[in-house]
Amino acid sequence: MDPVRNPYAPGAGQRPPELAGRDKELAQFEVTLERVAAGRPERSMVMSGLRGVGKTVLLNALRGQAVNRAWGTGKIEARPDRSVRLPVAQAVHAAVRDVAHRHRDPDRVDAVAGVVKAFAMRTALKDRKGLGWTPPTDVPATKGRADSGDLELDLIELFTDVGELAGDLGVGIGLFVDEMQDIATPELAAICGAVHEISQQGSPVVVVGAGLPHLPVALASAKSYAERLFRYVVVDRLPREMAVRAWLRPAAEEGVEYDAEALDLLYELTDGYPYFVQAYGKVTWDAAVTSPIRPSDVTEAAPEAEAELAVGFFGARYERATPAERDYMRTMADLGADPRAQGPSGVTTAQVAKVLGRRPQSLSPARDGLIKKGLVYSAERGTVAFTVPHFGRFLRAQTT
Ligand SMILES: Nc1ncnc2c1ncn2[C@@H]1O[C@H](COP(=O)(O)OP(=O)(O)O)[C@@H](O)[C@H]1O
Ligand SMILES: [Mg+2]
Repeated sequence: MDPVRNPYAPGAGQRPPELAGRDKELAQFEVTLERVAAGRPERSMVMSGLRGVGKTVLLNALRGQAVNRAWGTGKIEARPDRSVRLPVAQAVHAAVRDVAHRHRDPDRVDAVAGVVKAFAMRTALKDRKGLGWTPPTDVPATKGRADSGDLELDLIELFTDVGELAGDLGVGIGLFVDEMQDIATPELAAICGAVHEISQQGSPVVVVGAGLPHLPVALASAKSYAERLFRYVVVDRLPREMAVRAWLRPAAEEGVEYDAEALDLLYELTDGYPYFVQAYGKVTWDAAVTSPIRPSDVTEAAPEAEAELAVGFFGARYERATPAERDYMRTMADLGADPRAQGPSGVTTAQVAKVLGRRPQSLSPARDGLIKKGLVYSAERGTVAFTVPHFGRFLRAQTT
């Protein structure tokens, strides 16, 4: 098929041509937006799942829904070892700008922008480094509001003020947080505290987080009531019917069809993981000469998809690991660790230690390094699992 018209979109955060299997989440979020704007009690939301299942794309789609309702929105991508204060200030400032031009009282808008600045100005020196430090707005910083240095208190004041500003217009503020598991525990606790407070106030502010599978556990250990604070959504691989839709709909737009057996084969190869759905869809399209696309097209294209994934999806992550961390992951892979749709998918740290002939404590640095790099996660004490689907399989296929 004409590669120029290839509709598939493999790549982190790449908007898929067909956002398959997420109708429920999208519909639910419309209700959330409406309830929050009306000052009704509503929980903020947290999505979790493996890499490549479509969390970022879904987060962006939810943000799009808020934008369509004329809400103010902002997004941050959390980073390990970096405070969220400045990124939050920037995101909230973007949200304020979304609503500011419609607000009838410019003095109030400036006052709120001044609070955003005051909040930003408390960013610690070490967190400003390498950022080309600039507080997000040029209005003077307000004194004595959102600038105590206590993140929880400051977030409460910040959210309260921006919520009021948006509330004047009958809309709300949406803060979207990607890679939320990378936020340090004390800051997660502060965010939970602030979300708790603003929801009690009925302030029209909603926080939507996305992160790796252990994010709910991380939140619960940051604040005991986090379990009740958020609505948790597990973002997972697509059931066959939805994966098929992700291939068929975009192709149909281009007048291209698939044989049923070709779809069977594609599903078998991808397990319905959205990143793989796009990657295999893309190469298969390029390999096929005529419609309908046949199983032989899939077979012919598969090695190319594998090679691309080996470099871009798996390899790029593997490269980030130190030699000791690589040994650790290979051992996990040999022990059969591989994310599965159901049931436990990890191995225990004790098993890894045993195979490597080491004491478990001596392997903690390797394990912690891998967790920090987002390659493995621990949802349960003493266990580890890969964050990347098919990663164990990829490692077992490596010969060196
Ligand atoms: N619902 C979906 N249907 C089809 N493809 C999807 C879907 N969600 C995501 N994708 C595709 O999967 C890939 C990974 O999406 P991304 O949001 O970056 O995943 P994550 O943030 O979970 O790692 C992208 O290429 C995207 O186009
Ligand atoms: Mg992502």
